[in-house]
Amino acid sequence: MRNVVDAIIGEVYTLCRDNRAGALADYIPELAAVPADEFSLCLATSDGFVYEAGSSGTEFTIQSISKPLTYGLALADRGLEAVAEKIDVEPSGEPFNEISLDPVTERPRNPMINAGAITSASLIAGENPEDRFERLRRCYSTYAGRELTMNADVYASEARTGHRNRAIGHMLRSFDIITGDPDEAVDLYFRQCSVNVTCRDLALMAATLANNGTNPLTREEALAPALVERVLSVMTSCGMYDAAGDWITQVGLPAKSGVGGGVLAVLPGQIGIAVHSPRLDSHGNSVRGVQACRELSRRLELHFL
Ligand code: DON
Repeated sequence: MRNVVDAIIGEVYTLCRDNRAGALADYIPELAAVPADEFSLCLATSDGFVYEAGSSGTEFTIQSISKPLTYGLALADRGLEAVAEKIDVEPSGEPFNEISLDPVTERPRNPMINAGAITSASLIAGENPEDRFERLRRCYSTYAGRELTMNADVYASEARTGHRNRAIGHMLRSFDIITGDPDEAVDLYFRQCSVNVTCRDLALMAATLANNGTNPLTREEALAPALVERVLSVMTSCGMYDAAGDWITQVGLPAKSGVGGGVLAVLPGQIGIAVHSPRLDSHGNSVRGVQACRELSRRLELHFL
């Protein structure tokens, strides 16, 4: 089996390697400076076997792939019902950074778009902003099975230019979705997006979700099994933003992308997949990330439907 999976990973890597379509995220200056040609692919099973191709030890920022993890911690801190009163679970069909609330419910439509993600950040428990970020950092580290750090340059770059996210934070405050200081919630969101990960980390995070919330290598629980279902559900319907329909049709796995070029996908009970390639399509999803997941899903028959 090991040889078969290694061969398929290598084949998909070679197939996608020369695809130079897409463009770097440039609305955060520091992200426009990353090496555009980086490409890595990693698969981790829920019992801890890891398969890799490319530079899977290179660090990049997690960006929006942090959103399901923060949502999971908010669920653990506040409970399913309290979180549902603040964040809906409907696909929005809108870009990730849309300044929007559902006109009827007056809630963010889901936790994967920025409005929902900033709300999740506002729900993280802690004594003060440092404590709240430290709880998030530790939670992400448990998923990955190693201590993760924050990229201070990316954080500073995003904090300097993130006016649209501040606008979203203040909109949420004006509708009483956020009841505390909106700038603090937005700042926590900027920090969480700036956590450094490798492709291997993302694959182990995905394998942790596949393994009902427990990291397959360290055996530490990152998320209670009862909450994993909710997190994977919103990843299925909303994780790839306004490309969620195409993704679920072609790849068929719960997933999340980030503008750092990462993509994380989960076959519940079995496999976690991660790809890193920084060139993005018009939805903010990694071009080679989407292509590699589509090819892997087809070859390994991962489409869960
Ligand atoms: O909100 C932002 O601008 C980013 N820090 C994260 C956005 C992101 O990763 C969108 N995903 N593809």
